[in-house]
Amino acid sequence: MSIVINYKNTSKKINSSNIVLFVDEKFNIFSLKKYILNSEFSFISDLLKTKDLKKKIINFDINSKKKIILVSLKKNLTSSDVENLGAKFYDEFKETKHSEYCINSDTAKGYLTNCVGYFLHGLKLKSYLFEKYKSKKNKKKISIIVIGKQKPSLKDQIKFKAIEEGTFYTRDLVSEPGNILHPDEYAKRLSSLKKDGLKINIYDEKKLKKLGMNTLLGVGQGSIRGSYLVTMEWNGLKDKSKPLAFVGKGVCFDTGGISLKPAKFMEDMTYDMAGSAVVVGLMKSLALRKAKVNAVGVVGLVENMPGGNAQRPGDIVKSYSGKTVEILNTDAEGRLVLADALTYTEEKFKPKFIVDLATLTGAIIVSLGSEYAGLFSNDDKLSNQLINAGENVEEKVWRMPLNKNFDKLIDSKNADMQNINYVGGAGSTTAAQFLQRFIIKKTPWAHLDIAGMAFSKYGGALNSGGATGYGVRLLNKLIEDNYE
Ligand code: BES
Ligand code: ZN
Ligand code: ZN
Repeated sequence: MSIVINYKNTSKKINSSNIVLFVDEKFNIFSLKKYILNSEFSFISDLLKTKDLKKKIINFDINSKKKIILVSLKKNLTSSDVENLGAKFYDEFKETKHSEYCINSDTAKGYLTNCVGYFLHGLKLKSYLFEKYKSKKNKKKISIIVIGKQKPSLKDQIKFKAIEEGTFYTRDLVSEPGNILHPDEYAKRLSSLKKDGLKINIYDEKKLKKLGMNTLLGVGQGSIRGSYLVTMEWNGLKDKSKPLAFVGKGVCFDTGGISLKPAKFMEDMTYDMAGSAVVVGLMKSLALRKAKVNAVGVVGLVENMPGGNAQRPGDIVKSYSGKTVEILNTDAEGRLVLADALTYTEEKFKPKFIVDLATLTGAIIVSLGSEYAGLFSNDDKLSNQLINAGENVEEKVWRMPLNKNFDKLIDSKNADMQNINYVGGAGSTTAAQFLQRFIIKKTPWAHLDIAGMAFSKYGGALNSGGATGYGVRLLNKLIEDNYE
């Protein structure tokens, strides 16, 4: 499936195309008269009486090759309402044979600024398909011509495109199976992001050992693949001001290790690297849109496998921070990868804040399903910024508690802490509480548990099922609204 959008500096409609016009909530089409033929206008006026006006998109077959499509916009509509309309438009017309559309942007005048931009953004996001491994691909092309004066500015066009490409890159990475996107391959792909203007640093096992990142290395030691920490820097301010930091869990496949997971649905654990993929997609979109911000992305890439050299329950390892961890369950591995990545990020980059993303716990799906990511944070300001950004782009987060009283559940008799609590419940909070111990210098920090958000079996408003790319738009919005 490909969507090709062309902007024309004209208000003249393209006769060979289907015509898309925006109209108010009540389908008052009088104002559209000047954009269509008189005969079309009276045809539509008559037929409109027979249509269900509760529908937001109504189409009229003018002849076998031409439709006029009305898209109704209510008052006070939000950008995300319009994105959803674009997605709905895609769903309604994705199978239509004659697929050239002419959107008259002038009909969106007086509604939300940038209406057409959001409409097309939603349409594009919804159209993504992962077909790499299908012999028969969907070759359909939808061509859209935008006319009139209300089209997005060049700057906005670039912004939308950068966010789409970042989101699609995340979805591509998350969709790849474990045999293809193992840590060696993943690190290689990240190295290619230099071409977008990112500074990439790859730490392989030898370097990680030297640095003492043993909680990260312990997770990967049962795998025949390497383990890596990769940093990606975007210096949009061209100065030395403190960067914003984003850290991601990149477990390319999570078998559970020696604490092996059950067979059923284990295949889902191919998306256990989604947190890292969001960080990568975000960094790519910041570079593509040349965001005026300094930012750094840090990802820990490992494969969690059982095997002769795998980590055992009961093992004690020393983290980069110096704190020791007793491994009670090798399936609670994400926090071990993040522990070293967090301390390293804080120490090396001295960031303004750190946001980490991880498909960390099944328990967060019990709490919040696939509507909200769990937010755990030591900072109210950062939390509120994330909550607001999430509401805005419909990638919502819900704040969950952190409290020192949970600490006793992860204190260990034999080491500074243990990586799981078998009693006491609150699995997502104790995981976050564990992570917090690796923020050493009180840097504002937020942890997003995206286990319920990264992958959608049924599809959502702006995705058609599979990898969602959840988080890329959220973090772009966080940055755009508060740090650019
Ligand atoms: N990757 C899983 C969490 C997960 C579960 C992500 C379902 C996406 C969907 C994580 O590494 C894990 O296995 N967590 C365990 C923790 C437990 C052993 C404390 C879990 O949630 O069961
Ligand atoms: Zn696990
Ligand atoms: Zn995992």
